[in-house]
Amino acid sequence: MAAMVACGQPSPAPDGGQPVPKQPDGWDLGIAAAAAIDTNPDPHVVEVTFEARVQNLEVSPGLTLPLWTFNGQVPGPVIKANRGDRVIVHLTNHLAEPTTMHWHGVRVPNAMDGTEMVQTPVPVGGTFDYDFIAVDAGTFWYHPHVDSSAQVGYGLYGALVVEDADEPAIGDELVLVLSDLSLTADRQLAPGNESGWFGDYFGREGSVLLVNGRVLPTLLGRAGAPQRWRVINAARSKYFQFKVPGAIVERVGGDGGLLEHALRLTQVVLGPGERADLRVTPTTPGAGPLTVRWEDTDRFHISSTLPSLPMFTLQTSADPAVPAPALPATLRTIERIDTTAATSRRIELMEKATDGGAVLGINGLSFAESTPVTVHVGDTELWQLSNSTNFDHPFHLHGYFFQVLDVNGTAVPLEWKDTVTVPPATPMRLAVRFDDRPGMWMFHCHILDHADLGMMQALEVMER
Ligand code: C2O
Ligand code: CU
Repeated sequence: MAAMVACGQPSPAPDGGQPVPKQPDGWDLGIAAAAAIDTNPDPHVVEVTFEARVQNLEVSPGLTLPLWTFNGQVPGPVIKANRGDRVIVHLTNHLAEPTTMHWHGVRVPNAMDGTEMVQTPVPVGGTFDYDFIAVDAGTFWYHPHVDSSAQVGYGLYGALVVEDADEPAIGDELVLVLSDLSLTADRQLAPGNESGWFGDYFGREGSVLLVNGRVLPTLLGRAGAPQRWRVINAARSKYFQFKVPGAIVERVGGDGGLLEHALRLTQVVLGPGERADLRVTPTTPGAGPLTVRWEDTDRFHISSTLPSLPMFTLQTSADPAVPAPALPATLRTIERIDTTAATSRRIELMEKATDGGAVLGINGLSFAESTPVTVHVGDTELWQLSNSTNFDHPFHLHGYFFQVLDVNGTAVPLEWKDTVTVPPATPMRLAVRFDDRPGMWMFHCHILDHADLGMMQALEVMER
């Protein structure tokens, strides 16, 4: 597959309608992440070889850091597949500690989930083959599931994009992996356990923002020509909130593929682990460079926010605006999970004091104290999520998508999600059906420091 779309031929619309207008030459060269190399000639198999290793990378002029990488790249190579393809990843671990790859949001067979529930971490010098079918179209990602906060914080993450030829044309595709790096005072990579308990409890947020592993990269566009941004928040703790100046932003999808109907957005907010699928259409020829800036979401609810930081710039060409093609009124239909016979389960994200400082947990127990929640294949459950701490937690479930029914009693648009922010004192209900894939899964806060501090549990899905 091509590493990047250097200069867009107009993509033919699958429904035979108007083609998507083309982008300026080299529009994504300053920002796009490199693609994985598929070594398998079978068009329905994507087979890649990944080596986890430390690599010195110059993330900005004069700032070279020994990042933890897949194939020497941060983010790791973008894996692209079509829905229904078999994906094979040969992982070799050349790090100094064991690692795994978890396929966030992908409905993999249980043994491929990359957690310590289902595999012995790949030892130093060892190998492991991940092998699964990409059953859903959408924007997914991969990252280790051992020592996750440190390993993800050092650079181990990347995108898995699963396309579906039956989806309506949205725009020219660009994957944007958002993350950050923590540096010490002398601008070295900070240790993964920096600040000990405080780092765990408050969540380690880095001072260097990365977009596809780069500091302040540049993107080109053309007025009226839509781009499809598949945005992934791969930071271990940081929320990303941003506006796109000079463009119309419509959210067409999220964690689990397309929405039913596009939603016009004034700003985008993504918790760690979450994804947004956006159609971004610049409005004005010759505009820019306009800066897309990170804004603090105030996840601690302390009503004082950090100063904004630049993420990347967007410049439109002087070419006259083209008429943006209309999005279909219905992007796809999503079947609502039938909850008439569902069992209710309470999931309280909480903290409690211990001799060693507060620990985080779920339903009164830290991960170390907990036993797996058990359900059976075919069960449908209504999970009543609540958060009795004073700050936000992005709740993530492995192996199954859920549908958020309501937040504080108010219904929300129907979509498939695997990660959702639960603010303090904001009860929400979600429906989940354990349709298949028996085995030992997990759910946890995706502020990976919080997962390390105990806000995590196992979920055993038993055969009927
Ligand atoms: Cu992306 Cu258990 O996590
Ligand atoms: Cu949390």
